[in-house]
Amino acid sequence: MPADTLTIIDNRTGKQYEIPVENDTIRAMDLRQIKVNSGDFGLMPYDPGFTNTAACKSRITYIDGDAGILRYRGYPIDQLAEKSTFLEVAYLIYCGELPTRDQLSHWIQQITTHTLLHENTKKFMDGFHHDAHPMGMFISTIAGLSTFYPEAKNIFETDVRRKQIYRLVAKVPTVAAFAFRHLVGMPYSYPDNDLTYAGNFLNMLFKKTEVKYQPNPVLERALEVLFILHADHEQNCSTSSMRLVGSAQTDPYSSLAAAAAALYGPLHGGANEAVLLMLQEIGSKDRIPDFIKRVKGGEGRLMGFGHRVYKNYDPRARIIKETADQVFEVTGRNPLLDIAIELERIALEDEYFVKRRLYPNVDFYSGIIYQAMGFPTEMFPVLFAIPRTIGWLTQWEEMLLDDDQKIGRPRQVYLGSDERDYVAMHLRAH
Ligand code: CMC
Repeated sequence: MPADTLTIIDNRTGKQYEIPVENDTIRAMDLRQIKVNSGDFGLMPYDPGFTNTAACKSRITYIDGDAGILRYRGYPIDQLAEKSTFLEVAYLIYCGELPTRDQLSHWIQQITTHTLLHENTKKFMDGFHHDAHPMGMFISTIAGLSTFYPEAKNIFETDVRRKQIYRLVAKVPTVAAFAFRHLVGMPYSYPDNDLTYAGNFLNMLFKKTEVKYQPNPVLERALEVLFILHADHEQNCSTSSMRLVGSAQTDPYSSLAAAAAALYGPLHGGANEAVLLMLQEIGSKDRIPDFIKRVKGGEGRLMGFGHRVYKNYDPRARIIKETADQVFEVTGRNPLLDIAIELERIALEDEYFVKRRLYPNVDFYSGIIYQAMGFPTEMFPVLFAIPRTIGWLTQWEEMLLDDDQKIGRPRQVYLGSDERDYVAMHLRAH
């Protein structure tokens, strides 16, 4: 019997099957031959939430959740956060290798020449209500961009695809910043391509009447680090949405809007906003034990804690905590930090969280930094979407070029009514 196989005995029939094992996985379709009789549909795996189903092969991001490891293209996240810049990491994620000096300057030049938005974009952004949530504006505006670039639907033309990737990476900070300026009632501030990716973003957010905006270098670097940490995270909910929508051969703007919509949810990228609201609601350290008691009693969750993959400390949370100290030296300490630190201490000693292996995730401390930097809570998920754009696009392209992939279409276990005849209204029970 070949070693790399799985033997399955179907106790319903007594039949035995040999299923090939490759990369520690079996193909779900190999189960379909397992039937009680020839008219059967065949066996299927049932996996709500895809907790143990690999939907693709990928070469981009590696996570070992038990060991708390995250690597982009093999490079540890802590080395990239310490030594690299966001656009260099974006190149690495997309192209697979660290760039040479020339490759990096070409990449930066391509991205910076696409930072402007078509002027009509401003008109539909203006149409939003004055207090519109910036993530709603972001999602809609990204989807709207597909109407400006109809050629984007030619997704199998390499040059066309590459151009949309430049455009999207370049324009997401501009869309995000315009949504912010709309929220706070300030005129839009246009991109300044002399600045770095993070520096220009700060310029578009916070520039007032000065002729040239000079970003604070500590805040600029902190934002770069936060962007690096959020750039990709393999097959999470939003990335899977990007792949799923993209598998219908939808254009990248519409697919990316779907990914951003998935990110918006409070169990995913919306968690950083939810953490801040939670810390504000707790309000003081002495109220933490009561809050923990309520969480353990099933009244809500400790936001910013727990992760589907990390069952050990999220390595991004550790780096963010260090970044917080640098930011607070410039902005002053955010008083919510003391509540967060105490909350973390109490939770990490509590049997409920220990038993379930719930640790702080990337969202636990990021919101505290964003708030200290002057962002309203509604902007937090948008700040997550900006750097994740390169991850979504890289995963999308990997899916498109993978011969194994087809349109995503899960199966269901149907438990509804069997066939029955239509009943006329006057004959139905009241
Ligand atoms: N607070 C309290 N209990 C929790 C939490 C939490 N944050 N997270 C999980 N649990 C409990 C859950 O009630 C369950 O308990 P029991 O076994 O008694 O029913 C157990 O832990 C397993 O939880 P699960 O919901 O089956 O785990 P999951 O892998 O499906 O969910 C998660 C992962 C991230 C959605 C979840 O941990 C959560 O809701 N966390 C809070 C929201 C959050 O911080 N999200 C950001 C995730 S990281 C960034 C990102 O992905 O965008």
